[in-house]
Amino acid sequence: MAAVPGLLADRRSIRAFRSDPVPPDALDDLVAAACLAPAPHHSRPWRWVVLHTPEAKAALAAGMGARWGVDLRGDGVSPARVDELVAASRRRLEAAPALLLGCLTDDGLDRYPDEGRQRAEWGMALLALGAAVENLMLAATAGGLASCWVAAPIFCPEEAGAALDLDPSWLPHALVLVGYPEPSYEPRLRPPLDLDRLRVRR
Ligand SMILES: Cc1cc2nc3c(=O)[nH]c(=O)nc-3n(C[C@H](O)[C@H](O)[C@H](O)COP(=O)(O)O)c2cc1C
Repeated sequence: MAAVPGLLADRRSIRAFRSDPVPPDALDDLVAAACLAPAPHHSRPWRWVVLHTPEAKAALAAGMGARWGVDLRGDGVSPARVDELVAASRRRLEAAPALLLGCLTDDGLDRYPDEGRQRAEWGMALLALGAAVENLMLAATAGGLASCWVAAPIFCPEEAGAALDLDPSWLPHALVLVGYPEPSYEPRLRPPLDLDRLRVRR
């Protein structure tokens, strides 16, 4: 794997942070890095919310947690376990020094009269958001910051947006925890890479 740039391998999902705040300019630099990602028709179909106050983090955690609780109860999970899971998730979000929330917007996307192509267009926006999040996390790694992508908002974009009083056209889809790494945290082992299983040549 010597040909893979070191930065790509160095980026790991880090889930524990020192309590030091991240300077607002450093967070803006991460958003700027995200915005360098490729996007269909130069659309930049993303918007970013930088959450650095305890109140904003708590509001997002509570809004998403309430919805997750409903979903878990619907799955038949016991009330005690639901409370435990939701509380752990809330603690995790609130413990991160900053949260960067990537939202999708249809501003700049092409419109189609049929559902199939419209869905593909939205899919392209989602791919572009993924590329943007990877940029953001690589920039964090390069700057000595730790990060971890959290899936939660994609399951409850409306609730996440309402919790932060966002414009309804901003649909939260990707959450990234950001902070200075807790030195004792050991990232999980990466599974071995078996290229022969993951790609074919034609
Ligand atoms: C779309 C997406 C959603 C993820 N959601 C979560 C999550 O909810 N919680 C979490 O701890 N990690 C989450 N991760 C991080 C993955 O677990 C992690 O990327 C994977 O284990 C590989 O580890 P690495 O990032 O250190 O290489 C997510 C990653 C992606 C790409």
